[in-house]
Amino acid sequence: MTKFTQKELDELNSTINSAQDALKWASDNLHPRIAKASSFGAEDAAITDMMIKVNPEFRFFTLDTGRLPQATYDIMDDVRKKYGIKFEVLFPDTIEVQQMVREKGMNLFYDSVENRKLCCEIRKVHPTNKMLQTLDGWITGLRRDQTSNRNEAKMFEIDTQHDDILKINPIINWTWDQVWDYIKENNVPYNKLLDKGYPSIGCEPCTRAIKDGEDLRAGRWWWENEGHKECGLHIDYKK
Ligand code: ADX
Ligand code: SF4
Repeated sequence: MTKFTQKELDELNSTINSAQDALKWASDNLHPRIAKASSFGAEDAAITDMMIKVNPEFRFFTLDTGRLPQATYDIMDDVRKKYGIKFEVLFPDTIEVQQMVREKGMNLFYDSVENRKLCCEIRKVHPTNKMLQTLDGWITGLRRDQTSNRNEAKMFEIDTQHDDILKINPIINWTWDQVWDYIKENNVPYNKLLDKGYPSIGCEPCTRAIKDGEDLRAGRWWWENEGHKECGLHIDYKK
């Protein structure tokens, strides 16, 4: 298992500036013990295109929570066909889901923040934890201006939430416009929900379209008050 010191990461963060260079470094140093986590949002679309251009063998995983929109399954297959990617699709533990819905109902997430976090934990966080135990690093589509929790994130980080493996956020300092420019200039296939007012896409019951002037993540868990609009993949709710 390859582990990095903070000093090594500081060095990488000060010498590597572009997403492409970060991906080239990942390919040279960690492939195949590194994989991209993809939720098929705009950021993931752009990074996927860059990754395949750097190394067509890069690995990709996605969490099928069982509650995804049909448009996300559609783009998953479009991307699979265009780039020949065999996504590692992770499913939640059947027994955990059975117990959860028996105790709390199918739409438990609307009843309380606690229930919502439990659902995200079982459907997203647990399968991710399992996957990351097999890797030395993962690649995400995080951008600094998405949430308050993300505004200090770096391109290369030690992921203390996941046994100190490496977390690479290649487009951490990109703006939303940069993501779109990349998609258009490179003719990248993208999730059709993006054209329907969904700049941030999660599970179907927990994502709505945004209205003019709203924050790009306003449609995620829209019934909850502001605060951490996070599922727990990138923030440790237990701390
Ligand atoms: S979330 O924590 O609020 O759900 P967000 O939708 O912003 O995350 O996505 C940020 C990054 O988290 C994605 O670019 C991807 O790397 C990872 N991610 C989020 N959801 C999934 C998913 N269902 N499968 C795989 N990766 C995901
Ligand atoms: Fe459950 Fe909603 Fe979280 Fe998806 S986003 S795992 S449906 S609470």
